[in-house]
Amino acid sequence: MALREIRTMGDPILEKKSKPVKEITERIRELIADMTDTLMDAEGVGLAAVQVGVLKRIIIVDTCEEGSDPIVMINPVIKETSGEQEGYEGCLSVPGKTGMVTRPDHVVVEFLNEDMEPVTMEGDGLFARCVCHECDHLEGELYVDKVEGELKDVEKEADGD
Ligand code: NI
Repeated sequence: MALREIRTMGDPILEKKSKPVKEITERIRELIADMTDTLMDAEGVGLAAVQVGVLKRIIIVDTCEEGSDPIVMINPVIKETSGEQEGYEGCLSVPGKTGMVTRPDHVVVEFLNEDMEPVTMEGDGLFARCVCHECDHLEGELYVDKVEGELKDVEKEADGD
């Protein structure tokens, strides 16, 4: 198990755009394994590679559905969105904070899996919110800029993603 340091708001790398992954190398496999460990350890819902300091278009989404493994998405692209949901959001790069963000309630996302095979997935609710949040990271955007009202302090149960 290898944990990587999670970069936090104020670190300029979080404002940079990530680059597409062209091939799966040993380094990329190691990065994905470390991202998974780091996400599990931090008990987050999602993580983008930029959050551990690597500007590659890789995200992991773990919406904690019973028995489901975290989903690794390489070069994800949101193809469709619909509906709207309001809810509190957090981010492992913005520890201890939460804020209200409106997101689509349904997304269709295309990505490559770890074998570089194309996959299309769709989902609602937390899945949709998480995919949008993580894809924003790949553009150098943090949810704090989308918060309606104030960014609030949270105590223990902050579910960061
Ligand atoms: Ni985040």
